[in-house]
Amino acid sequence: GDVAVLVPAAGAGVRLGPGRPKALRLLAGEPLLVHAVRRLAAAPSVHTIVVAAPAAEVAAVRDLLAPVAPVTVVPGGAERQASVAAALAAVPAGLEIVLVHDAARALTPPEVVESVAATVRAGHDAVIPVLPVVDTIKEVDAGEVVLGTVDRATLRAVQTPQGFRRAVLSAAHAAAVDALTDDAGLVEKQGVAVRCVPGSEYALKITRPFDLALAEHLLTSES
Ligand code: CTP
Ligand code: MG
Repeated sequence: GDVAVLVPAAGAGVRLGPGRPKALRLLAGEPLLVHAVRRLAAAPSVHTIVVAAPAAEVAAVRDLLAPVAPVTVVPGGAERQASVAAALAAVPAGLEIVLVHDAARALTPPEVVESVAATVRAGHDAVIPVLPVVDTIKEVDAGEVVLGTVDRATLRAVQTPQGFRRAVLSAAHAAAVDALTDDAGLVEKQGVAVRCVPGSEYALKITRPFDLALAEHLLTSES
């Protein structure tokens, strides 16, 4: 493999409800982070995995992942962007393709990882997996009155892993001023073209209890 994957996993999981940090919450008996790392390690392109864990859980996460795959674990930050930056700083020299993958997208198939990595390798500086938007989208004002309907055909829902030429991601993080929810957003601000490839419904972000229940069902109904 020629790819480093950064795994931001330091979030609390507030929207999932009270409990352990989200990456350590159980899905079919195993922490979300274990599911995520196992699938990353199964992708032939992946050479190195760097996990940004909750600061208080770094040692626990090292122990948890040791039997799953060789990983480097660093303490994450207060915002996702800081967690990604901390993981990026731990990538060894010589790996020029870097993917960023949310631990919360625990069921992302290795095929999506391969597709994103291959598209960066083919010469695109920034690559994101996306799905078409299925709902009609309205723009509303502060009083919940509709201002208009957005043309759904031009919209995409964005997933991870997002893939970058390493220098492009480093420059975007170095220049970042506002915290954004994804890394491609930082790269866009640098004027770099971002290429979309097909994502997967399995790459859903486990955010609310409904998502955890859905993921549990998907896992237990798989062969
Ligand atoms: N993340 C991180 N460091 C943070 C915040 C988030 O590494 N300070 C990670 C999460 O662990 C998750 C990914 O970024 O894998 C996407 O974030 P999100 O789904 O929002 O997770 P949480 O921030 O944990 O959830 P919530 O916003 O509900 O608290
Ligand atoms: Mg969050």
